This record gives sequence, C-alpha cells and structure tokens, in this order.
Amino acid sequence: MKNLVLILIIPLFFLVGCSGGNGGKNEKNVYAIIPAPLSLSEMPGKFIFREKSTIVLSPLNESTRLSADFLASMVKNATGYELQVKEGSKVPNGSVLMAVDTSVKNPEGYTLTISKGKIVVKAGSPVGMFYAVQTIRQLMPPEVEKPFSGQAVTLSVPCCEIKDEPRFVYRGMHLDVGRHMFPVETIKRYIDLLAMHKFNYFHWHLTEDQGWRIEIKKYPKLTEVGAFRKETIVGHAGKKPQVFDGKPYGGFYTQNEVREIVKYAASKFITVIPEIEMPGHSLAALASYPELSCTGGPFEVGTKWGIFEDVYCAGKEETFKFLEDVLTEVMELFPSKYIHIGGDECPKTRWKKCPLCQKRIKQEGLKDENELQSYFIRRIEKFLVSKGRKLIGWDEILEGGLAPEATVMSWRGVAGGIEAAKQNHDVIMTPTRYFYLDYYQTEPDNEPLAIGGYLPLETVYSFDPRFEELTEEQYKHILGVQGNVWTEYISTPEHLEYMACPRMFAISEVGWTQASKKDFEDFLARFNVQRARYDAMNLNYFKGEYRNTRSRKQ
Ligand code: ACM
Ligand code: ZN
Repeated sequence: MKNLVLILIIPLFFLVGCSGGNGGKNEKNVYAIIPAPLSLSEMPGKFIFREKSTIVLSPLNESTRLSADFLASMVKNATGYELQVKEGSKVPNGSVLMAVDTSVKNPEGYTLTISKGKIVVKAGSPVGMFYAVQTIRQLMPPEVEKPFSGQAVTLSVPCCEIKDEPRFVYRGMHLDVGRHMFPVETIKRYIDLLAMHKFNYFHWHLTEDQGWRIEIKKYPKLTEVGAFRKETIVGHAGKKPQVFDGKPYGGFYTQNEVREIVKYAASKFITVIPEIEMPGHSLAALASYPELSCTGGPFEVGTKWGIFEDVYCAGKEETFKFLEDVLTEVMELFPSKYIHIGGDECPKTRWKKCPLCQKRIKQEGLKDENELQSYFIRRIEKFLVSKGRKLIGWDEILEGGLAPEATVMSWRGVAGGIEAAKQNHDVIMTPTRYFYLDYYQTEPDNEPLAIGGYLPLETVYSFDPRFEELTEEQYKHILGVQGNVWTEYISTPEHLEYMACPRMFAISEVGWTQASKKDFEDFLARFNVQRARYDAMNLNYFKGEYRNTRSRKQ
C-alpha cells in the first residue's frame, strides 16, 4: 500500500513542478487580494492541497465549522478531494490549522501564514477566521469557483504572511427590491459577493412606493395589493410624454424566504438590515390600507419613479399601531440590532393640510412639519429601543431634530453625516457622488439607461470618510461606508451585477483597507488578476473604462 501511495505521489510532484499555471518553480507568486490586507509579506514557494490534507480547527464548533466547510468546498471544487475537518491544535504536514487565538485582538482580524508545509490561521473570532478563508480563496486559482469538472487541478496558494483587520466596523451594500425585485438565488449570489470581499452588512430595502416586498401576516393586503403594480413607466422618469408598458409587475418574499436569506447571510457572517420605509415612500402600503393616509385615498401602487406626496398620516394613532405591528413581525425575522426606517424624501404637503397632523403639531408643541417628522421618527425609535434594537435612518432624520439614539446614513453628500457625528451620533457614509451604484459608470452614450450621474470606479475608490471638521472623538462615530443599488432602471440579475461590479469591490477596500495602503493603480492591477475568478463565476461585471476620464481631461 505504501509503495502504491509513493507511485501515485511521485508523478504528482512531477506534474506540479512542470505545470505552467500553478506550480512553476521559477514563476513569481501573485498576490491580488481585494480588499487589500493590512500587511502582506511575500514569500517564495507554494502550499499545495493534497488529498490527505486536513483542516484542523481550534475550537471546532458551529461557527468555526462554517469557515472550514467553506474552505473544504473550494478545495473540492478544484480537485474533487473531500478534506477531513477535525478539532485539534497541532497541524500535520500538508494541512491547515485555523484557531481562534486571543493574541489577535480585533474580532474581525486574523493572521495567515502560508508556508510550503502548512497553512496557519489565527483569528480574533470565528468571523476573522472566515475572512482568512476568503483571503485564501482569493489566492487560489479560479477553478475553485466552479463545480468539480472531474479533472483535478493542482491547487496551490503562494506562501506569505498576512496580518489583517478592517479599518471600519461597518461595511455594507444595499439593494432596493421595491422598484424591481430579484429571485432568492440572486440575493444569495449578491450575499456571496459581499462575503468574498469582507462586507459585513446587507441593507435590504424592502418597501417602496412601487412595491411592498415582505410578507406581513397581520396585514395581508400589503402583499395582496401592495406587492403589485399595474404597469411600469418606460424609459427615464423625466422623459415626456410618459409611456407605460401596460404589463402588471410584482411579487414579494415570503417570511420563509426571508428567514432563508437571513440564515444564509449569517452563515457568511453578514447581518441583514431590513428597511421599512416611513413616513414617505409608502404609497404601496397606502394603496393596501388607505386609512393610514391623511386623505383616505384611494391610491394605486406607484407605476413611475420619483417622490409621491401621499405619506403615512402622522396625526393618526392607527398609523403607529400599524407600523409597530409591522416592525414586530420584522424584528422576529431579522435578528439585526439595526432596523432601518427610511425617513428620506417625505413631502409635507398632506401634513400641512391634514387636521389630524395639525392637531398633533399643536398638542405636542411642535414648531412645524419638520418637527412632526422628527416626532414620528422619535416615536418609532422609542418602540425599537424598547425591543432592544437600534434605529437607522437616512440623513433627513436630522431635520427637526435627531431621535436620541439614531444612527444616520448620510446620502445627500457627507454634510449630514458630519453634522450627526458632531452631535455624537453614529454615522454610515453613503454619499451619492461616490457610492450610488445606480449612476452611470462611464460616459452614458452606449450604456444601458441609468438614473444619471457619472461615477467611474476610480471615483468610488477615492472616497475617504476622514474629515478635518471632526475631532478624533467625533470621527469615532463614523462607523463605516455603504454602497447603494437603487433599481428603478435595473430589472434583471445580469444588469444588477453589471452596475454593482466592480464598483462594490472598490467600496470593500474603502471600508476595509487603511487609507495609507490605498492605491487605485494597485487596486486595478489586483482586480485585473481577479477578473479570471469573476469570469469563472460568470459574473457580469462592467468591462469598460475604469478611470475617471472626465477629471483626467480637466
Ligand atoms: C435615497 O437615496 N433616497 C436615500
Ligand atoms: Zn395626517
């Protein structure tokens, strides 16, 4: 038996020695990790996964097992090998040890040492272990991204020593499923891309004027009525005359599907933050329950894009009862500490004329309708806090006064975020000019229709949320960054990938990598290496001009 093993191994070494792509002796190792790690020391040689390689975990539990299983599945894809996973603290030659280690202080941090004989990961927690595996993955050949072909490839990773941890605790990507929705499988693939690039939050924008997308058992009309629109505007919303496609559109995620997605994301250490919009962007809810509006309706689910004047009535107690009931079901589905309540783009037209809204303003001693919006958000915050959760809202929630513990998502630029940080509130930076991935990513002439703007990869990459106006203490309130994908003009999974990639990869680096380590040309070079991986994944990423040619012309 021993001889047989030798006979099998010798040609394997020979093969490895001669193979052009993966194991060439004099070939220079390539390291192309996105987001770039804190430090990376290149070393000669490669570690090669063998059939007998094992993955040793310390400790082995449900959480660490996720990382081992992920690594094992990558190895299996390329080689067909089924690596054994066991508990221990010693690593046999040719194997991988992954340990939670108190010497790594940041729970998301890790050290990774790849030598010819073994791979050793020390992680601050199972999260850091998962990120180490994503790094190992990016050092593997692209074949690991495809199901096993029946033909084992030489699976090697270049030797190196990496120390890594994120710059920011919040690294998010958002997706609007109100305007257009996407299959559960597409949402999971989106989450996969996030995990691969060390994002830790998926902000799921679930309700809009044009569609309510989450099943709420207590209010069935939200999905019977609110999840469907009779038709959709064709072309850009600003184009006249307006033309509609005449085709009904709609759908929603059942509570079981929501649970499935939340669980899937958790298996990749991603928290799903649900967004239930209020008081504006709520026409689909009002079409379902018109009694929650100021006028009583009737309403139709939105068929065009923009801002609608009919919003929840802030004077009616029924509105708050409804929203608290909805949020109660939402909190049962989403363990996230953060619950996003929107708060953006709420016209005050109806409130100005509504006797009940005006009565509320008087009774509560409020100055105007902005303060009424603030009353609305504070009341919802109180409810969320009473359930142990935290409220996030778009930066309009600053107007009329911030709710006491609110976290602000700064989107209309960075000023709202800076102001909130100065008021000692936590902030997530998601400014339109850098992080709105529904904007054109190159000159619009030959691009699919988009909302407008010009946001090439280079501009996305250039954002740095360190502002001179903020003291060190105030800067600590900048939790991180997020990219947003609004889908008025994005209706298919392929187009979603096209708009999100590679710009989301640049955002991952803004959120993860220390500013001193950032370099766009280096990022592009790494991306160009990783393109083979994205191709293996059949990712429909944008393949045009990545540089900001407008700024270069100036
Ligand atoms: C937003 O883009 N209305 C937050
Ligand atoms: Zn009202």
